[in-house]
Amino acid sequence: MTIEKFGKIQVRGTILQLQQVENGQESKQVTSSNLMSNRHSHTSGEVPDLPYGSIAVGYDDGMRFFERRLFGHRRRKLIPQASGNVLEIGGGTGVNLQYYQGLASLVLTDPDPLMIEQAERKLRPGAFPVRFEVVSAEALPFPDGSFDTVVATLVFCTIPQPAKALAEIRRVLRPGGKFLFMEHVRPRPFPLGLLADVLTPLQKRLCGGCQLNRKTLETVEAAGFQVVQRELSRFDLILSGEAILSHTEP
Ligand SMILES: C[S@@+](CC[C@H](N)C(=O)[O-])C[C@H]1O[C@@H](n2cnc3c(N)ncnc32)[C@H](O)[C@@H]1O
Repeated sequence: MTIEKFGKIQVRGTILQLQQVENGQESKQVTSSNLMSNRHSHTSGEVPDLPYGSIAVGYDDGMRFFERRLFGHRRRKLIPQASGNVLEIGGGTGVNLQYYQGLASLVLTDPDPLMIEQAERKLRPGAFPVRFEVVSAEALPFPDGSFDTVVATLVFCTIPQPAKALAEIRRVLRPGGKFLFMEHVRPRPFPLGLLADVLTPLQKRLCGGCQLNRKTLETVEAAGFQVVQRELSRFDLILSGEAILSHTEP
């Protein structure tokens, strides 16, 4: 029996009506209409300079080994926990797109237009609307309480003002919403933490501002989130989990 699914995605202001035929292999575009007038600006909000430049070119190739060994299985576990209307910050080349399931909608953001271009190319026809926006996490152009889930993976190592970004995440999450994260953090065991401190200036220069010694768990908690689920890898190097808004303001 043929199962047909219809979906909509928005790419650069164009809504594509998609028909997916599941027991055949084809997936085809049946109509498209330009909705520029409804479009949220690609450059809405305050787009900061990327102080260390773009790392978009060659990013996926450069990360392949680390994805296989360190991050891929954590994404597979974490990202399907996103639900409802979802915002991803610092979404980069869209590595997480393949893991989202059954959402109401997804807005994938990043301040680097070259990253967003690659993410757009990764998008495959799906059952929920996806929108891309070039914005930084410190100035999200979305109303208060407009998302059920916010996702950040490998972003808090790079964001110049993490506390400001977390305040924005708090603001755009609806009450009861969740914040899902996967980050590499400053390892606790001696001498790895020290090594991370020493290597960070070089890492920042070579990897678009990425810092190896961010204490992201502490920063998330200090921003008024309650971490309700967390996993730390060997050597406490990779942190992933879920946080909800705590009742006390930071
Ligand atoms: C290491 S990449 C991670 C990309 C992606 N989230 C992933 O899991 O592969 C870090 C990303 O953070 C983005 N970034 C840099 N400054 C940012 C900011 N102020 N707000 C949000 N994202 C930022 C970069 O453009 C880049 O795409």
